[in-house]
Amino acid sequence: MSAYIKRAVLAMQGYMPGEQPADPGVIKLNTNENPYPPSPAVRKVLQGIQAETLRLYPDPLGRALRRKIAELHKCSSDSVFVGNGADEILALCTRAFVENEGAIGFFEPSYSLYPVLAQIRGVRSLPVALGPDFEWAMPASYRANLFLMTTPNAPTGIQYPKAKIRAFCARLRGVVVLDEAYVDFAREHCLDLALARPNVLALRTLSKSYALAGLRLGYAVGSPALIAALFKIKDSYNVNRLTQAAALAALGDQTYMRKLVERIKKTRNWTATELKRLGFCVFPSETNFLWVRPPRLKAHELFSRLRARNILVRHFPGKRTQDYLRITIGTPDQMRALLSAVRIISKKDCFP
Ligand SMILES: Cc1ncc(COP(=O)(O)O)c(C=O)c1O
Repeated sequence: MSAYIKRAVLAMQGYMPGEQPADPGVIKLNTNENPYPPSPAVRKVLQGIQAETLRLYPDPLGRALRRKIAELHKCSSDSVFVGNGADEILALCTRAFVENEGAIGFFEPSYSLYPVLAQIRGVRSLPVALGPDFEWAMPASYRANLFLMTTPNAPTGIQYPKAKIRAFCARLRGVVVLDEAYVDFAREHCLDLALARPNVLALRTLSKSYALAGLRLGYAVGSPALIAALFKIKDSYNVNRLTQAAALAALGDQTYMRKLVERIKKTRNWTATELKRLGFCVFPSETNFLWVRPPRLKAHELFSRLRARNILVRHFPGKRTQDYLRITIGTPDQMRALLSAVRIISKKDCFP
């Protein structure tokens, strides 16, 4: 059967998304979802949708949604693209901005989808190793046709200095996608760079701060020429009717989104303090998750023991990441459950 499949596809592993357990009793701190429900405005819109309207295709250009996003970011609708999650837009960027003999760059570690996208596209990956504490480390002579930069970074939670990002965007002779999936939890953003430079796109998602991972809506903001290129190659109806309507409602309720973000940041800071008290090394986070190195126990061991207690966090095997865990910030009750499980596990570990 393998004769029918492209060699590159046979050889690749494919992206491994975080586990989505069927058991609702699991405390799910593994995929950076928001622990709170989306805005009540979203529920209202979804309840008001007439099934009859699903007969018709959605607006292929997502005009109402793009007007709303343009209004929020004080730019023109021509500078906005909408997609079926940020992931779809990342894949489109690899098709629109990289020649067959080109290369795609990204920091390591960062979003583990990036190398998979390069494999799917059949082009070289040019990873750049972050510094010893996962800080910015970019060689002066570095080149790539497309650089995918998560900022603030995942899985580390660290925000890069904006001056470094600005200088890199000015220097690179290729497109820089600033993947700002977590930026609503950070102190600053780089959307202005995307609007000012011809080679930069800022990428956002409603999956994290808006609590709408299940809806699948991402958007890109940048120069109209880059945006027009994405429009040329997208599927005709890449954002469905329900998503367009619900996303419009969510974006219209900025107050609610800000409230969720503040609540999560408060829980994040408190959890970080408690984990430090337990001896964890906790990296400064500007996201809705913490990147931690446990004391005594190996990270994968703690991961398994938490899992046995129905608490899911994320462990990434691999040289740079194997000693750490990424813990999504849940509700205060969920974080208390995590901390008490860690305390019990650590005691057992010390006095077997
Ligand atoms: C850095 C980064 N970019 C993009 C995404 C995916 O966003 P979406 O759910 O909009 O496809 C994620 C999801 O975890 C992410 O961590």
